[in-house]
Amino acid sequence: MRAPLLALTGLEVAFAGAGGAPVAAVRGVDLALAPGEVLALIGESGSGKSTILLAIAGLLGPGTRVAGSLRLAGIAGDLLAPGAGRRGIAGRRLGMVFQNPAASLNPVLAAGAQVAEVLRVHRGLGRARAAAAAEALLARVGIGDARARAAAFPHQLSGGLMQRVAIAAALAGGPDIVLADEPTTALDATVQAGVVDLLLDLVDRDGLALALVTHDLALAGSVADRVAVLYAGRVVETAPARALATRPAHPYAVALARAAAPAATRGPFAELPPAGPVPAVGCPFAPRCALAVARCRAELPVLAPFGAGAVACFRPGEAR
Ligand SMILES: Nc1ncnc2c1ncn2[C@@H]1O[C@H](COP(=O)(O)OP(=O)(O)O)[C@@H](O)[C@H]1O
Ligand SMILES: [Mg+2]
Repeated sequence: MRAPLLALTGLEVAFAGAGGAPVAAVRGVDLALAPGEVLALIGESGSGKSTILLAIAGLLGPGTRVAGSLRLAGIAGDLLAPGAGRRGIAGRRLGMVFQNPAASLNPVLAAGAQVAEVLRVHRGLGRARAAAAAEALLARVGIGDARARAAAFPHQLSGGLMQRVAIAAALAGGPDIVLADEPTTALDATVQAGVVDLLLDLVDRDGLALALVTHDLALAGSVADRVAVLYAGRVVETAPARALATRPAHPYAVALARAAAPAATRGPFAELPPAGPVPAVGCPFAPRCALAVARCRAELPVLAPFGAGAVACFRPGEAR
């Protein structure tokens, strides 16, 4: 791999729980992104995907405990260190795209003005130049008749167009990394592919790195270079996308693949028992795993090289 643009090491995130006790949401996650690389993060709801992106973007709330290290190429120091003064850096280098564009856009700002505001803050452009550059960015993200659309308010735009405006706003700081959290989940099926194609075009043409959170395994397999599978706040498998699609090695990754496959070809792993509490000791997936043995309940498996990737499992490659 080329020198990473982004290197996240040992990320731990804990939210304040009901009684004030911290509740771990992310436990020891390492991720790296190279220029022009697409990394897909997959895993069921609650596995920590959004929390990881928010931690990278520096958008977690003040009561949240965050530990680990985040380095961006060209920036000295660790962005997760206390007092790293990362706000401006994160805003310029990292563009964030959320699931619901209606919630991520300012409802009282016209489309062009949302984008222009970012250009003024992060690039120091004056009003007129920012407005012109915003229009160009709206055209760049595939919005036809950008001049007219720049004057439209979010509620006057379709979901697909709103998401394109949100992507333009995310690009306005001139990022080299885009973090997209289920960017098509809230959109009509007919416009989802267009938004995915736009993100991939940004990767191809502008050399951006993309971290894409998705629960769509087929999408991950078709667009990503690498996939990281999350379970209960940990990466349990990471591999080149093709390897993961054809030969998932962790029983949980096998279960995800089986659940996404046509019914006739589903094996025994398609029907996972429902998730219960994550055990304090041993493999977090053991309670739901048909292959679990005594060691799985006693010892935590850590990521270790397996095949073309790495797997945190004592019986990698055995589930079918
Ligand atoms: N602001 C928050 N306060 C408390 N707990 C949270 C908060 N955000 C997320 N969590 C918890 O952290 C875990 C990971 O959540 P999240 O990152 O949203 O998962 P995903 O995006 O994979 O669905 C979940 O158990 C969730 O309930
Ligand atoms: Mg999420």
